[in-house]
Amino acid sequence: MPAGPSPFPCSPPPLYHVFLSSLLDLLLSTPLLLPGSPGSPKPPSAAPEQVHLSYPGEPGSMTVTWTTWVPVPSEVQYGLQPSGPLPFQARGTFSLFVDGGILRRKLYIHRVTLQGLLPGVQYVYRCGSAQGWSRRFRFRALKKGPHWSPRLAVFGDLGADNPRALPRLRRDTQQGMYDAILHVGDFAYNMDQDNARVGDRFMKLIEPVAASLPYMTCPGNHEERYNFSNYKARFSMPGNTEGLWYSWDLGPAHIISLSTEVYFFLHYGRHLVERQFHWLESDLQKANKNRAVRPWIITMGHRPMYCSNADLDDCTWHESKVRKGLRGKFYGLEDLFYKYGVDLQLWAHEHSYERLWPIYNYQVLNGSQEMPYTHPRGPVHIITGSAGCEELLTPFTLFPRPWSALRVKEYGYTRLHILNGTHVHIQQVSDDQDGKIVDDVWVVRPLLGRMMYL
Ligand SMILES: *[C@@H]1O[C@H](CO)[C@@H](O)[C@H](O)[C@H]1NC(C)=O
Ligand SMILES: *[C@@H]1O[C@H](CO)[C@@H](O)[C@H](O)[C@H]1NC(C)=O
Ligand SMILES: *[C@@H]1O[C@H](CO)[C@@H](O)[C@H](O)[C@H]1NC(C)=O
Repeated sequence: MPAGPSPFPCSPPPLYHVFLSSLLDLLLSTPLLLPGSPGSPKPPSAAPEQVHLSYPGEPGSMTVTWTTWVPVPSEVQYGLQPSGPLPFQARGTFSLFVDGGILRRKLYIHRVTLQGLLPGVQYVYRCGSAQGWSRRFRFRALKKGPHWSPRLAVFGDLGADNPRALPRLRRDTQQGMYDAILHVGDFAYNMDQDNARVGDRFMKLIEPVAASLPYMTCPGNHEERYNFSNYKARFSMPGNTEGLWYSWDLGPAHIISLSTEVYFFLHYGRHLVERQFHWLESDLQKANKNRAVRPWIITMGHRPMYCSNADLDDCTWHESKVRKGLRGKFYGLEDLFYKYGVDLQLWAHEHSYERLWPIYNYQVLNGSQEMPYTHPRGPVHIITGSAGCEELLTPFTLFPRPWSALRVKEYGYTRLHILNGTHVHIQQVSDDQDGKIVDDVWVVRPLLGRMMYL
């Protein structure tokens, strides 16, 4: 979360500091300069680390991604038995990722997509090659078709330091509470830092969750460095945009992941704003043609359109860029999402939880006074960026806005249960209150006529 309108997320360390730590890195990485160092330097490892899953969008498939420090083959062995032999094998490829830091550290990122998985069945796998295997992990293949009830954990802004939500997310994952994770931008703080070692540390930290569940992402402002290179290299999202924007189907929902960052880091290319916008529009058109089958359209993007936090972020401005677009009129998302009847919009960036009344253009559009979320007449927004990071929590303004339904300044994350085509259940878990549910609402929309808000 940046303070103020500056395009840079947090104030960068002074230059001399960057220089000194880079110099130190160079010295430490040059063994000849350290004659007294004990033992021989550890050889670069062929053992997989930072194992994680993602769903490539094809039913019956799952992608395994991991890192090694030398180029070795990319293989996954898998099966149905928790112990004993793993009879199936799949092969993939690796790509070399060179971090933009002064050491130009080299990571070999391996990707293998498993196919033909039986829906809803639990698999055991390990990844690597003859030169080194990971430990065994378990995952459940996603069910097929629209007629099941996916459960998700949703959060943004999870750091390698102060990752408050992680222990509980781990426990939930072990208990099989979820089908997938949505991480709504801002990872590690930051993945590129310390020559991308912070990224390595973060990916190891989330492994107990991310190696067991598809870990679906969108980029946040903290991924900006070197044109989002750590984000693009480390994750494996569907589509051909290196995870900047894409969509996928999950049970009765169509889920769209987008980059709000294209509106802010214009020096990486103004064309990205336009390209994403046109893609969003055509994806929404397609999703609406299929709406009788998959009624829910859910979006996730890092920076919200609205928020009532006490800072100077984009969402605190009346005409936020995400809502109204560049110069207040180009490629704004609110009109687009309203026009195509998007049901639920998930955001993060503010390190807090905020739920809005159904809203369009500052008008509260409750279904009714008594049941605001039953047949709402505008999209529902949830801002969930309090999973925990070194930047701590974000305070709210003293008085909530009329469109703000609930504000929680506590660490936590959101549970989203897409029960069926008409009912979605949203709960906020507080880690400050040892897992207490601090928000609990149902959003109910009719089965048909979902495109139009009436
Ligand atoms: C940044 O990356 C995007 C695609 O990921 C690319 O289209 C764009 O040209 C890049 N910008 C620069 C300045 O390299
Ligand atoms: C929306 O519903 C909530 C909860 O009943 C209520 O407090 C609020 O005043 C309503 N807003 C409008 C504009 O109807
Ligand atoms: C969805 O579940 C709710 C709660 O059980 C039920 O009332 C509703 O009829 C269901 N909707 C559909 C389309 O099955």
